[in-house]
Amino acid sequence: MQNLTTTLNKFIYFWKRTQVPIKQPVQISKIDKLFIFLLCIVISIISSYKLLLVPNLQVSVIVSWVISFFEVLISCWFLILVSRKENPNINSRQILLIISLLLIVQGIKNIFISALSPLSIIVPPALIISQGMGSITALAWVSVASLSWPDFITNINSNLLLITLICSCIVSVLGGKLRSRAQLLQLSILVPLGALISQLILNGNVEISLGDNQEFFVSNGQIFSDSLLLAIIMLITILFIPLFESIFGLLTKARLLELADKEKPLIRRLSIEAPGTFEHTLLICGLAEEATRMIGGDIDLIKTGALYHDVGKLHAPKWFIENQDGSINPHDEIDDPLKSAEILQAHVDEGLKFARKNRLPKPITNFIPEHQGTLKMGYFLHKAKEKNLDIEERDFRYKGPIPQSKETAILMLADGCEAALRAMDINASDHQALETISKIIYSRQIDGQLDDSNLSKGEIFLIKKSFLNVWKRIRHRRIQYPTTKNNTFS
Ligand SMILES: [Fe+2]
Ligand SMILES: [Fe+2]
Repeated sequence: MQNLTTTLNKFIYFWKRTQVPIKQPVQISKIDKLFIFLLCIVISIISSYKLLLVPNLQVSVIVSWVISFFEVLISCWFLILVSRKENPNINSRQILLIISLLLIVQGIKNIFISALSPLSIIVPPALIISQGMGSITALAWVSVASLSWPDFITNINSNLLLITLICSCIVSVLGGKLRSRAQLLQLSILVPLGALISQLILNGNVEISLGDNQEFFVSNGQIFSDSLLLAIIMLITILFIPLFESIFGLLTKARLLELADKEKPLIRRLSIEAPGTFEHTLLICGLAEEATRMIGGDIDLIKTGALYHDVGKLHAPKWFIENQDGSINPHDEIDDPLKSAEILQAHVDEGLKFARKNRLPKPITNFIPEHQGTLKMGYFLHKAKEKNLDIEERDFRYKGPIPQSKETAILMLADGCEAALRAMDINASDHQALETISKIIYSRQIDGQLDDSNLSKGEIFLIKKSFLNVWKRIRHRRIQYPTTKNNTFS
């Protein structure tokens, strides 16, 4: 019996170790919470007040109003919950965007419901949310926004509502995945076209009066005007997405890809002024991308973050070994470990300044301090101890914070393994390479650097494997192909 309990406990222990830890969402201030709550109350009132506008106010009417009020309020709460679950780093500004879009939509429904098609009301905000906050949040938003309609039975065609729901879901799912503005433009043409065809099939009779321009554009239920208006609003939305990105700090896939362009001035500067750091950056991109793909993380985010992680070295490239080209090491010249440690820390501080100057989004800026975490600058600490200086260990540690996401943690591990893998003998076995990788990762783990990263033990295992795969590729490239005397080019 005791053996069985021990085995069971062991099983539970190992099962727990393989589970992904739950990432706690970022805390929101009390004032922001209050403001968001008040907005939710306003949305609930706007969505339900029409129930009270009857000549004889009876108890049953009041009860149905109370039910409707709380239905919308709970839906808002559910929406915020889903958005925080999907994006643990979501801030109050972004939650305000989601809630404000809901408020605008509920307001438009009350005022323009007889003139505007539900397609034009629901689909464009779903596109903004899916691009900025992901597909699941957008789907939750669509379900809440589709819940309450004033004068539901009299004014809205149920087929049109069904088409709206399907189009919104398609936009929500695809919007979270599309990686370029061109694809978004295609979506803004194809979805209205799909809506048009669906309406022709489901509603059949085409009522269209080309003579009255105003009616052509805003009459609800007119098949061509519905789809045309949807296409126009979606195109305008796409034009305004960069504005939403900068106001609400959204990070869309298209923005990430734009930032990852190696012709960006800051990256060009890095390649010219600090070529060694640029090479190191490209290798890290390869390692980090492979590991992120393996654990199902955000590849575009880590690729862009890796590109900018060491831009701070631009402030003094020659102080970093990869840019020294065999020349004299300035650290040896000053022979002051404490000063050297300050210079190393400066690559993080200066990197943050470069990020601010170049208006890099917060998720990308986070890679700059978090890739170093609170790691020890072992070499200079050792030197200081040798000199018997009166020092504290914390003077030889980066200021942090430690990685707060899986992506920044992977970058830290890739950063640690890159130099060791590059320096490795090409004749080294896979086992030796894996051992080196495991040692470096384990040292970060026991130092507590991965504590806030949300990486599970299983994921760390996959990261090790993927680093090994990248090393095998590097080794394969470095192996010289045998050449003969009569070697000719063909
Ligand atoms: Fe660094
Ligand atoms: Fe680095």
